[in-house]
Amino acid sequence: MSRIHDALKRAQQDRSIYEGIGLQDVEAPAAIPATGPIPVTPAADTARSHAMLPVSPPSDSIAVDTLLARCPSTTWAPDTETMLFFGAEEQAHGTEQFRTLRSQLYQLRERQSLRKILIASSVPREGRSFVAANLAQVMARQPGCRVLLIDADLRSPRLHLALGTSPSSGLSEYLLGETEEFGIIQRGQMENLFFVASGRPVTGQTEIVSNGRLKFLLDRLEPLFDWIIVDSPAAIPVSDAGLIANFCDGVLMVVRSNSTPFDIVRKARQKFNDELVLGVVLNGIPVEIDPQTQHYFSGSVPASGPKAARE
Ligand SMILES: Nc1ncnc2c1ncn2[C@@H]1O[C@H](COP(=O)(O)OP(=O)(O)OP(=O)(O)O)[C@@H](O)[C@H]1O
Ligand SMILES: [Mg+2]
Repeated sequence: MSRIHDALKRAQQDRSIYEGIGLQDVEAPAAIPATGPIPVTPAADTARSHAMLPVSPPSDSIAVDTLLARCPSTTWAPDTETMLFFGAEEQAHGTEQFRTLRSQLYQLRERQSLRKILIASSVPREGRSFVAANLAQVMARQPGCRVLLIDADLRSPRLHLALGTSPSSGLSEYLLGETEEFGIIQRGQMENLFFVASGRPVTGQTEIVSNGRLKFLLDRLEPLFDWIIVDSPAAIPVSDAGLIANFCDGVLMVVRSNSTPFDIVRKARQKFNDELVLGVVLNGIPVEIDPQTQHYFSGSVPASGPKAARE
């Protein structure tokens, strides 16, 4: 029985409802206690300082200038309940967990090419959009780190609501060939954070996301951004996420710890190529009402590399 299996089993058994997140790397011990904090490990601290290092400049500076000049500037009205890094409070509940998640992704990036990350989950309402939005924000908080957040959930788009902006023009218009890329990339008031909304409602979503234009878009925009975070529909009911994953470098599986049945998670995981699955973000894990648990950390990036991590 694999360690990810153990981790997910324990997550399913966990019935507390207090909200929190934790990245369960697939090799890491699935040590999410029902009570009490897990201390932040030295490895996590090291990774955090690493994450703050300046990122290398994109190779194509002309294209970056073009990006900055041509993207429509919009004023977002973020929902600060869910967009944790738009609020005034630096240490708002949940922000530390996203910093830890960021550190873990930087650690993974030392071992593999990692820039385009799909946020997936088994079933609706597990928190994919919440994780995608906050991961994009915490990445963009690093000086000089340019981040693109894409709402590729054409079925139940939500990111434009969380950001407080218009859904159009967005991804669906681009995929239908109605507009070019710079017309759909929004710039708001958070420096370094760029956003592609879902676009207008369409039918035939699976065919549209797999018509080749999404891959083209991601390949074209990749040199301009340090991270591209892609939200997606739930993986069990429809095949969109499994298709989009093939255009990305890795998949983070969001699991709602107090609700998603283990067998459903396992079935969803099988929708993704083994090489792509980076780990599991447990959303809604219990956290004691204790200031120490604000620094909750679980899991570590495997020393033996991502292949072993997926066993
Ligand atoms: N850890 C959390 N703490 C607080 N609120 C959360 C958390 N995770 C999710 N939520 C809230 O739960 C609701 C569902 O989350 P979200 O929309 O991110 O899920 P989803 O998986 O993207 O759902 P859908 O299938 O509808 O796209 C949202 O209102 C979101 O703000
Ligand atoms: Mg969503």
